[in-house]
Amino acid sequence: MRIIGTGSSLPKKTVTNDDLSRFIDTSDEWIRERTGIGERHVISTESLDELAMDAANKALEDAGVLPTQLDYIICSNMVNEYVTPSLASIVGGRIGSQCPAFDLNAACTGFLYAMDVAEVMLKSGRAEYILLISAEEPSRIVDWNDRRTCVLFGDGAAAVVLTKGDELKAIKVSSKSNKSVLYYKRHLEPTPFVMRTKDAGPLCMNGKEVFKSAVSSSLRDMRYVLNKAGLTKENITYFVLHQANLRIIDFIREHFEADAAQFPTNVEKYGNTSSVTIPLLLDELNRGGKLRKGDILVFSAFGAGFTSAACVLEWNKSAKE
Ligand code: COA
Repeated sequence: MRIIGTGSSLPKKTVTNDDLSRFIDTSDEWIRERTGIGERHVISTESLDELAMDAANKALEDAGVLPTQLDYIICSNMVNEYVTPSLASIVGGRIGSQCPAFDLNAACTGFLYAMDVAEVMLKSGRAEYILLISAEEPSRIVDWNDRRTCVLFGDGAAAVVLTKGDELKAIKVSSKSNKSVLYYKRHLEPTPFVMRTKDAGPLCMNGKEVFKSAVSSSLRDMRYVLNKAGLTKENITYFVLHQANLRIIDFIREHFEADAAQFPTNVEKYGNTSSVTIPLLLDELNRGGKLRKGDILVFSAFGAGFTSAACVLEWNKSAKE
């Protein structure tokens, strides 16, 4: 596969750490020190499908591809207002595409899972152009009175357009089932046979356990894909990591003994936007003119499941004017 276009879209409303400290017992100092996060964007008047449509249109425009040329739309999403139809179907209608469209949920690792699926479709000849969107609104599943979780997340959408190519050098996706460290149980209607409704939501997380799993899986996955691609850390222009927490990223970088300049971050501005973080950072790098043809990138993500994934790919797109 080859990435030929990127785009992103964020909610208008920003919430700073000081804003949060007005209604929960927290502080800018605590949040910055433990997470690196300064502010996040959260959905208020807009809807997630509007953000996803905006990100998709920008990526298509960047790629020079029309919605009618798309063969598939895959949307990485954990939760949105609609269980059905899929967010991908809704966005397909909004951008004027009639190709097959479906959602995929691998929590914060979803973008890399979707890349893995897209690669198979492109390789098999089933598709020429695929639109891959990550769109997430974690602000709608956290308890805004729980300072251990609500300070970490933000909403947004980001997209890439993919076509055939041999730029993906290695990819590894994995899942190790554990539903007690990070989970959200949705509300389902009671039936004459099931009366269980009270244990739904909000998002629950054991932060320390997630931290440990994140560091170990990311290091393992990145070493695996680098080895598979026959590359070393010195060959890598940027490690584009899931932006969950600056401390996790620093920890991984230190273990990896890599240069800080190789690890761009934007978690300071957006918090953890779940599966959006990697395409959002990629779009910033692309539009900021930071990427050159031939650059080698490593992506690495981890999240609820417990899922994780990493890949190595070559950037082979002309610099954004
Ligand atoms: N503001 C102020 N104090 C807070 C707080 C906040 N927002 N959140 C927690 N605290 C308090 C706790 O209540 C606890 O107080 P206590 O000792 O009086 O009980 C204290 O800070 C330490 O809490 P702890 O949970 O041990 O902190 P931590 O150092 O593990 O940091 C996280 C918490 C969530 C920042 C950290 O565990 C983490 O980053 N985990 C990974 C989370 C993640 O990335 N999840 C998404 C993965 S996709």
